[in-house]
Amino acid sequence: MVVRIMAVCAAAVAGVMGTVVAAPAQDYPSRSITMIVPFAEHGPTDVISRIVTEHMAKTLGQSIVTENVVGAGGTIAATRVARAPNDGYTLITGHMGTHAAAVSLYPNLPYRPDTDFEPVALLAGTPILIVARKDFPAKDLKEFIAYVRANTGTLNTAHAGVGSVSHVSGQLFNQIVNIRPTGVPFNGTAPALKALAAGQIDYLCDQIVNVVPAIKAGAIKAYAVATPERNPALPEVPTTAEAGLPAFQAQAWNAIFAPKGTPAPIIARLNAAASKALDDPEVRRRLLALGSVIPSPAERTPQALAQLVKVEIDRWKPVLMAVAP
Ligand code: MLT
Repeated sequence: MVVRIMAVCAAAVAGVMGTVVAAPAQDYPSRSITMIVPFAEHGPTDVISRIVTEHMAKTLGQSIVTENVVGAGGTIAATRVARAPNDGYTLITGHMGTHAAAVSLYPNLPYRPDTDFEPVALLAGTPILIVARKDFPAKDLKEFIAYVRANTGTLNTAHAGVGSVSHVSGQLFNQIVNIRPTGVPFNGTAPALKALAAGQIDYLCDQIVNVVPAIKAGAIKAYAVATPERNPALPEVPTTAEAGLPAFQAQAWNAIFAPKGTPAPIIARLNAAASKALDDPEVRRRLLALGSVIPSPAERTPQALAQLVKVEIDRWKPVLMAVAP
């Protein structure tokens, strides 16, 4: 009897210890990490995430495997990560849409970006550009606006699903110029860009990271960048203020999040690895060539990201309440 009780106790202790011993934070990571990207491969979120995590994997000594989980403007992926084990092995590269704007557009959003995640690190700011098919009949933004106002009923605009960056920035643009084109959803702006280059879509508002090579190759037209300054990756593209639409200002951001309750030492390791990646000359060269804005060390902390998420949720609420559905 004593032996049986001891055996049961030993098993119970092993069970408890098993959880602790299997994944102590100080040994993290002891196996590969899954990075969920909420949009299609080769799009802006995917590209930024892969550039940074490739370097992070070297620092952490484990591979980081990207899984593209698409749909519902990235909210399917974010829901999955919010419910994943909080052991540091399932992360998400979210953005201004999944972790801010979606709150205003999905009344039954199954997660709360500000309370269901541990912020890890901001990776990049990504200015928004107004781009159109290469044969769009307008030579500059003023002509573009006149044309879309006159032809709104026949125009198609693409986006990456309700609540995505392209959706909310497109909604903002459409509201400012007072047009209601037909919105065509894709699983990311990589496939949307293909459709634009093929002439199946008329225009879209997209993150710069997705469009620099296509603009340089002449596959699509760029009318303006929606930031106060021109972007060094596309110095010939005017700002919206220069081109006559100062009211349209939009810059998105991409960041890593872990499920709520992921141990603080794990978040610290991930944050340090992400920050080290952002200081790496080759990572910086690749991000800057695509027009990204690399956050300063102070902007990369989990605390700064937590604050950004709160500010952005509040910032988008009145804007998205005002825009057309
Ligand atoms: C978006 O519009 O939210 C993004 O461009 C999605 C993506 O990474 O494809």
